[in-house]
Amino acid sequence: MSTTLLSGGVVISATGRRAADVLIDGESIAAILAPGQAASLGVVPDTTIDATDKYVVPGGVDVHTHMSLPTSGTESSDTFETGTIAAAWGGVTTIVDFATQTAGLSVHDGLAEWHEKAAGNCAIDYGFHQVIGGVDEESLKAMTYLVDNEGITSFKLFMAYPGVLYSDDGQILRAMQNASESGALIMMHAENGIAIDVLVQQAIARGDTDPRFHSTTRPVELEAEATHRAIQLAKVAGNVPLYIVHMSASEALAEVAAAQNAGLNVFAETCPQYLYLSLEDHLAQPGFDGAKFVCSTPLRTKHEHHQNDLWKGLRMNQLAVVSTDHCPFCFKDQKELGVGDFSKIPNGIGGVEHRMELIYQGVVAGELSLERWVETCSTTPARLFGLEKKGVLEPGADADVLIWDPNGTTTIGVNDKHHMNMDYSAYEGFVVDGKVDTVLSRGTVIVENDSFVGRVGHGKYIKRSLSNYLR
Ligand code: URP
Ligand code: ZN
Ligand code: ZN
Repeated sequence: MSTTLLSGGVVISATGRRAADVLIDGESIAAILAPGQAASLGVVPDTTIDATDKYVVPGGVDVHTHMSLPTSGTESSDTFETGTIAAAWGGVTTIVDFATQTAGLSVHDGLAEWHEKAAGNCAIDYGFHQVIGGVDEESLKAMTYLVDNEGITSFKLFMAYPGVLYSDDGQILRAMQNASESGALIMMHAENGIAIDVLVQQAIARGDTDPRFHSTTRPVELEAEATHRAIQLAKVAGNVPLYIVHMSASEALAEVAAAQNAGLNVFAETCPQYLYLSLEDHLAQPGFDGAKFVCSTPLRTKHEHHQNDLWKGLRMNQLAVVSTDHCPFCFKDQKELGVGDFSKIPNGIGGVEHRMELIYQGVVAGELSLERWVETCSTTPARLFGLEKKGVLEPGADADVLIWDPNGTTTIGVNDKHHMNMDYSAYEGFVVDGKVDTVLSRGTVIVENDSFVGRVGHGKYIKRSLSNYLR
């Protein structure tokens, strides 16, 4: 097995920073050494990578992606191949995608379909959550089986999208009770879909068909109400760990904070789009351009305090994780399916490539510490979702490493830097005061010198353990 020394950098963890060298043996971290200590120990590495003036951090862990997701009469535009290569470019070394059981399909068939899409096609390691789109006796049994046998320890339920992925409160309670027994974690899309559908129909009937009405028909009250209801159901189901996905609104965050103060096992994530993009500046762009920014939960108004509160929530650990909810579509032919009717615009924004960059810019802006950047983008998502060897640089951990250049600059956009399979970027023109320098996946360099040098098929499926946040 070959050895690699990452020398001269500053190693950042969730708990601190220090000048240190990282010794990699094969696929794993062998040791974190004082600067120069390798030589005094007589270690002669096969390869040395100079990390002088750079930060050395655990590779990014994005626990919310949708590669090749069939939806709205089309399919999200990144395959596991294109999406994981783009992720690697952005310093991400593990994704957890959502295997999806749609109506009429068994959970096992849904999972098999996802394995088929991903196997042999990934440039970085990957795991799966399972979406339960129909809670019944069979899917409940399958949930237990997946936890015990398939390394799938988290399940996403939807309070939105009636007739598609929606579960009613009774179904949600049953799935939560099942998870409570098996030790699994429930992820919740918390929006009151029944009420939203009424508002959507009324808007279309009025002729309010532009993309911006996607947000006004999904008001914050209906995100907060669903978040509150999900929390109460989780409490009734034995305080099952509950993770609210893609949180966008202050009022929903307040529900999570109150639950946490009451001692409940409630966690939440937000995504870069809710920290940086808004209803006025993006979704309400003239003509049909706002379709580029249609996602659910929706972008919120900049005239309230949502973005500030989300940053604060990240600092205070009310929000434990930043993920991307990477669900890309091209503007041409895909987003365009909703011309004249915003409710037909495929929901989703692509961003798997830019999360580490955008959240690092939060460090530059004074919103977060470097340690919190690592914690929310790598360490906590790994720990919360049972990725035992990911998210830390410690002896025995997988040698998934991002070497970050704080003196570099990244301009995000189609022309300069963009490898996702999309014909636009939601962050076009954003400038980040830092840059991905080198990325290693299990000891193998996959990005260096502004080139992807990894291999499709290198990424392997990771069976996840139960969340080790609560034990
Ligand atoms: O708009 C979104 N979020 N699309 C992806 C599916 C989901 O609900 O996470
Ligand atoms: Zn969702
Ligand atoms: Zn999603």
